[in-house]
Amino acid sequence: MDLGLDGNAALVTASSSGLGLASATALAREGADVAICSRDVDRLEDARERLEGMASGRVVARQTDVTDPDQVAALVDETVAEFGGLDHLVTSAGGPPSTTFLETTERQWYETYDLLVMSVVWTIENAHPHLLGSEAGTIVCIASRTVREAADGLVLSNAVRRGVTGLVQTISREFAPEIRANAVLPGTIETPRIEELIEARVDRGVYDDYEDGLAAMASDVPMDRIGDPGELGEAVAYLSSERASYVNGVEFPIDGGLMRG
Ligand SMILES: NC(=O)c1ccc[n+]([C@@H]2O[C@H](COP(=O)([O-])OP(=O)(O)OC[C@H]3O[C@@H](n4cnc5c(N)ncnc54)[C@H](OP(=O)(O)O)[C@@H]3O)[C@@H](O)[C@H]2O)c1
Repeated sequence: MDLGLDGNAALVTASSSGLGLASATALAREGADVAICSRDVDRLEDARERLEGMASGRVVARQTDVTDPDQVAALVDETVAEFGGLDHLVTSAGGPPSTTFLETTERQWYETYDLLVMSVVWTIENAHPHLLGSEAGTIVCIASRTVREAADGLVLSNAVRRGVTGLVQTISREFAPEIRANAVLPGTIETPRIEELIEARVDRGVYDDYEDGLAAMASDVPMDRIGDPGELGEAVAYLSSERASYVNGVEFPIDGGLMRG
């Protein structure tokens, strides 16, 4: 299926790895020009090279910390200057620390709010005038299944991420019909973030080792495996495309059927 993204301009935040990179890859495969960002320059450069290896469009990579509003503004400006506009925004971020409520410090609450919510607010604020100037403006926010079901040891994700889906629900009404806004809710998808979470649970004694953790996570999933990042990237590309022209304000689980509701 041709998604009609050829020649469109896309910005994907927090995208040198994992779900952001998979989204950038799917958009680039469809012929979009893609801008990516992250903090670590070496990993960002590796990601840029990988994308350039398979993309027919242009690739821009800019070192950016999405918790810094000035850096976010500069990222959007550079993307628009390079591509001549912006059609698609995809937001991702790093993951918050794995903690229980009683372990979590006040600073961690505020840092997580900046990382998960304000980074999205700043990116959308800066991107909005450019998306409005597009014939095909879309926003896809990568959130988590934790907005629907609390995950153990992830109080920060369970509580703070709901701000992102509340934001998406709101802008899907305020920005339509010019711009569509949707969220994707990953379940468990094998990325460096999941490796980190499994290792944290091994340290807490929840799992014996990494393999035990991976098997335990897969055992809850009707599809009998955890997801591949490319499976989420394809859904993000679809939601960004004209093929999803009447899909607006949805929270799209990509979890192999893990959530029951
Ligand atoms: N994987 C899953 O199963 C899953 C499930 C539900 C929700 N999520 C959530 O989805 C998001 C992405 O997860 P992932 O699995 O893709 O993680 P990942 O593989 O660890 O990738 C995170 C990416 O974000 C970048 N990043 C982190 N902090 C950043 C910052 N302040 N500014 C700019 N870039 C930043 C990282 O690069 P640098 O460190 O170099 O900046 C990296 O490129 C996270 O919020 C995670 O909690 C993931």
